[in-house]
Amino acid sequence: MQWVLDPVGYMHAHHRRYGDIFQTGLSWGSSNAFVMVSDPKAVQYLLTHDTGSEFSAPGEVNERLAPFFGRQNLMLLSGADHQRRRPLIMPAFHGDRLHVYGQLIHKICSTAIAQWPLHQPLNVRSLMADITQEIILQVVFGPHQGERYAQLAQLIRIILERTSAPSAAAIILFPWLQNDFGPWSPGHRLLQVIAKIDKLVFAEIQERRANPDPERTDILSLLMMAQDEDGKGLSDQALRDELLTLLVAGHDTTATTLTWAMYWIYSLPHVQQHLLKALETISDATNPAEYLKLPYLTAVCNETLRIYPATISTFLRRVEVPLELCGYLLEPGLWVTGCIYLIHQRKDLYPQPDQFKPERFLEKPFSPYEFMPFGGGVRRCVGAALAQYELKIILGTILTQVRLVLLNKHPVYPGRRAVNLGPQKTIRVQRIA
Ligand code: HEM
Repeated sequence: MQWVLDPVGYMHAHHRRYGDIFQTGLSWGSSNAFVMVSDPKAVQYLLTHDTGSEFSAPGEVNERLAPFFGRQNLMLLSGADHQRRRPLIMPAFHGDRLHVYGQLIHKICSTAIAQWPLHQPLNVRSLMADITQEIILQVVFGPHQGERYAQLAQLIRIILERTSAPSAAAIILFPWLQNDFGPWSPGHRLLQVIAKIDKLVFAEIQERRANPDPERTDILSLLMMAQDEDGKGLSDQALRDELLTLLVAGHDTTATTLTWAMYWIYSLPHVQQHLLKALETISDATNPAEYLKLPYLTAVCNETLRIYPATISTFLRRVEVPLELCGYLLEPGLWVTGCIYLIHQRKDLYPQPDQFKPERFLEKPFSPYEFMPFGGGVRRCVGAALAQYELKIILGTILTQVRLVLLNKHPVYPGRRAVNLGPQKTIRVQRIA
């Protein structure tokens, strides 16, 4: 119950008692007692040996997410199937595509800001979710208009809101609640929303199959053209599962991180001042590439991802052969996760870890296993580069275009948001100029 209601308290208490490696009594999918590791060297070992010989990264362990995302997507695929799918998705998030997304992010953000009213309390999470959702919809489906997209956006928001409150998170953590126990059961209502989403997504796929357009560069078009070595393309079901995964994974974590960033920037005047000064050095505020070059803005984004990472830990890896980790013998079949939150709270790496200090990232470099908001190894987040683009460009655009004040009078701490972490209280701002 503590893990469900107070995951941060749970992790600190166990770390204090047992140190950098401990076995939890927590179950997730086929694992009923996984091990949490927060020693960077051990996590480096875990994530550089997770291709199958020492550790594996089976997707079936994420079975609890199947009612939402289906089984034919990156998060639930395993082994060779997973290896074949990643190269189909990765190009959509790298190289020239990111440059195009930079323009898109700036445009969507500026359009949203123009509608923020003056002198009224504004819910930061809703503002950020509106922006990140529109971005991921356009990245996945391309430029779009019309009723189908408006409905899709609304339904995805309903799913996220229904599963994000600590009590509602129970629906993911206790999978039997996903069953349909009648019209008023949470499982019934969730399944209804998913059925509506499926209808819209399958209609879009059918329409595109009927009218193929080789000029399109959105993810759905790229996935529809992709073929494996045998010349076989993805089925409608696989396309739907992958799209839904990207739509949800691709905006909730980013919206949470942006919400925290806004909280820190507007609660710490020296951080805000420093950022505004850095932004003054930009020659063209309409060119998103300029925001990416500001070291202090990057440091603020990194510190936001460090102090309260949206994702508590990596996906589970399974031990395949007897091996030693942090002085303990691990038997085959045991499940292990790298605990991102606890690594980021280490006092030896980050003195005063509960303090927001972007300077840390300007003073010394951290290894990919000391600072690892996007995990690592064979399942490292495919959207990491896009997410970092979004953070910098959205924050830079907001700070350049409007003046805001934070309305929260008390400190805000992290709490459970579905399987992730997010602010425990609603963060509100008011636009003053
Ligand atoms: C601040 C934002 C984000 C954070 C903190 C985050 C974090 C993570 C983490 C920790 C993992 C697991 C890595 C592991 O097990 O080693 C992951 C996986 C994943 N992320 Fe992200 N993510 C973010 C944004 C995104 C975006 C924007 C997308 C897509 C557009 C995305 C799509 C995915 C997918 C599909 C996986 C599964 C990869 C696989 O199993 O091969 N994420 N993410």
